[in-house]
Amino acid sequence: MTDRVLIVDFGSQVTQLIARRLRESGVYCEIHPYDRVNAASLAEFAPKAVILSGGPASVTEPGAPRIPQAVFDAGVPLLGICYGQQALCAQLGGRVAPGDQREFGRAVVDITGECALLQDVWSPGGRETVWMSHGDRVVELPPGFRSVGSSEGAPFAIVADDRRRYYGLMFHPEVVHTPHGVALLRNFTHRVAGCSGDWTMTAFRAQAVEHIRKQVGRGRVLCGLSGGVDSAVTAALIHEAVGNQLSCVLVDHGLMRKGEAEQVARVFRDRFNIRLVLADASDRFLAALAGRIDPEEKRKIIGATFIDVFEEEAAKLGGADFLAQGTLYPDVIESVSVAGGPSATIKSHHNVGGLPARMNMRLVEPLRELFKDEVRVLGRELGLPDDMVKRHPFPGPGLAIRIPGQEITREKLDLLRHADAIYLEELRAAGLYDAIWQAFAVLLPVRTVGVMGDARTYDYACALRAVTSTDGMTADFHPLPHELLGRIANRIINETRGINRVTYDITSKPPGTIEWE
Ligand code: XMP
Repeated sequence: MTDRVLIVDFGSQVTQLIARRLRESGVYCEIHPYDRVNAASLAEFAPKAVILSGGPASVTEPGAPRIPQAVFDAGVPLLGICYGQQALCAQLGGRVAPGDQREFGRAVVDITGECALLQDVWSPGGRETVWMSHGDRVVELPPGFRSVGSSEGAPFAIVADDRRRYYGLMFHPEVVHTPHGVALLRNFTHRVAGCSGDWTMTAFRAQAVEHIRKQVGRGRVLCGLSGGVDSAVTAALIHEAVGNQLSCVLVDHGLMRKGEAEQVARVFRDRFNIRLVLADASDRFLAALAGRIDPEEKRKIIGATFIDVFEEEAAKLGGADFLAQGTLYPDVIESVSVAGGPSATIKSHHNVGGLPARMNMRLVEPLRELFKDEVRVLGRELGLPDDMVKRHPFPGPGLAIRIPGQEITREKLDLLRHADAIYLEELRAAGLYDAIWQAFAVLLPVRTVGVMGDARTYDYACALRAVTSTDGMTADFHPLPHELLGRIANRIINETRGINRVTYDITSKPPGTIEWE
């Protein structure tokens, strides 16, 4: 069996990055909230090592999260990061005190000793750049530990107990601002814990196929395709496992990008030979959306209509035992709630969560363990075309939420689709498409005066958006070169009859969201 590492989550903003870094070096890992880890879960998961994440709490306060005793009883190597280090030291007999000096951001650590964690990465005498984010600090080490690195605000910035194979870092090795952090994590998983690092996408593919066959047996599977990478990879993988037992339905709500529905049909039906029903329901969606302007109302209408159409198409196919969904790992991780309550609903995301129960189907979710970029690698392995695999995320309600504050009509959709296609084509030509998380055009509910030739125009304005992000939770606008923006604006205005002004959106998330609605 592939070596596994358990990440115990204490609620840090960057816990997912620990998992990313481990997977990049070929180690399979999962994140479990600290209060769900116990002897039984550890026995089942059978980790070769445990990493204790950072977190916003203070171990000096009563009721602070604790490392479950079972983690120590497991007898495997431990690495505590930030809060994890403080909890480790406090629970093993050391002392943690609120720092009089908080350290946030870049800091320097003086390396004062050697240990397996630092081997071939940092040596005594070195002064290394790291990224800190802590108020408290360890002031007294537990028995068996020694300090091998210190910073101005943390005398015990790196601590080690080589005998028990317990290590602690006051800083965050998982963020890019700690340049050698990846090498330290790798030392922990490979050298200290003995992980072989053989978790690859080829291995995953074989395991997943095996697992799907076992789960599905001779049952029939239904998969909704959206044009996005997650559902495409889900379908291709399930097809590899159970062939003709899979049928796909693509509900064309008329709110997709240019050429998208046709491309999906071409790839899946013609190249992969997958049974695919392309249901053109655009009239129905447009009729349901007529006169609607409120964003939440639009989302709910689209979600409900989608379920109706999907259900009808499924019935025509004779039903199915399983519904396939492209759920990814970030959707599955139960994050530790920092605020102590459910977070406010900003937008009701379009999903088909109600479908399996309503249609009495069981779920098949073969991507549950993967991150987005891993899904892309798998997609390429399965032979999906590059532009499908690399495609930017696209929201379920499609272009309907990119025509804000106004009624959705076929004409406006065509206008937006055209402008959007020009924008994306230029980004690809400039070699920038892959560096951007998501880029799209928005058709604004304003008309502005312009002059073309010698004539007055009174047409729509559109906004362009391009953001960088790692998970869509936070985002920054991409600083596209002005010259490129100018060229795109020119083309959109010249080639799209009905748009005479283009603006660029420079809002980050927060305070904005990525989509306009
Ligand atoms: P926001 O606008 O909330 O978007 O910052 C974050 C990411 O989610 C996508 N998005 C959706 N995806 N169904 C989806 O599947 C939805 O209803 C939906 N709304 C937004 C958005 O495109 C961005 O990638």
